[in-house]
Amino acid sequence: MKEITLETKLEVFDNIEELPKDVAMLIDKAAEARKHAYAPYSKFSVGAAILLDNNEIVTGSNQENASYPSGLCAERTAIYYAGAKYPDAKMLRVAIVAGSRTQQTVTPIPPCGACRQAIAEYEVKQDAPIEIYFMGETGKVVRSFSLANLLPLVFDKSFL
Ligand code: THU
Repeated sequence: MKEITLETKLEVFDNIEELPKDVAMLIDKAAEARKHAYAPYSKFSVGAAILLDNNEIVTGSNQENASYPSGLCAERTAIYYAGAKYPDAKMLRVAIVAGSRTQQTVTPIPPCGACRQAIAEYEVKQDAPIEIYFMGETGKVVRSFSLANLLPLVFDKSFL
């Protein structure tokens, strides 16, 4: 038997002001996108903004459905749109802002497992890391230098 330890390294910033201007700007775009969340069931709104290497920024928000599983998270709404609209562009950075509409969310909210898997697909496709920033409505911001760092043992095309 051999033990394997997997490590995830994160950087935690006290607030958005600690970040470079271009990153803060992308986070602002995610916060803006969050305002368009359609979340009448969970009352939990999420916004995502993706910076591409062609300088375009693609945004998305969570879109819920009366048939609950038919809804989609903000990150996947944004990343599938980016993949569909700019298939040749590389994704450089994703910013995510999330929070409940019934109470203030100050804890950084990480992307769910399904969204990590979806983002991982594009990271593998482009063979270059996608930087991830996530936060609550306010407060600390967490940075991961890549998606793979947030999803050890990713399932990808190498297994097919
Ligand atoms: N949600 C996202 O948009 N992204 C995540 O990474 C986690 C969850 C959405 C889905 C649902 O509309 C609401 O938040 C509550 O789960």
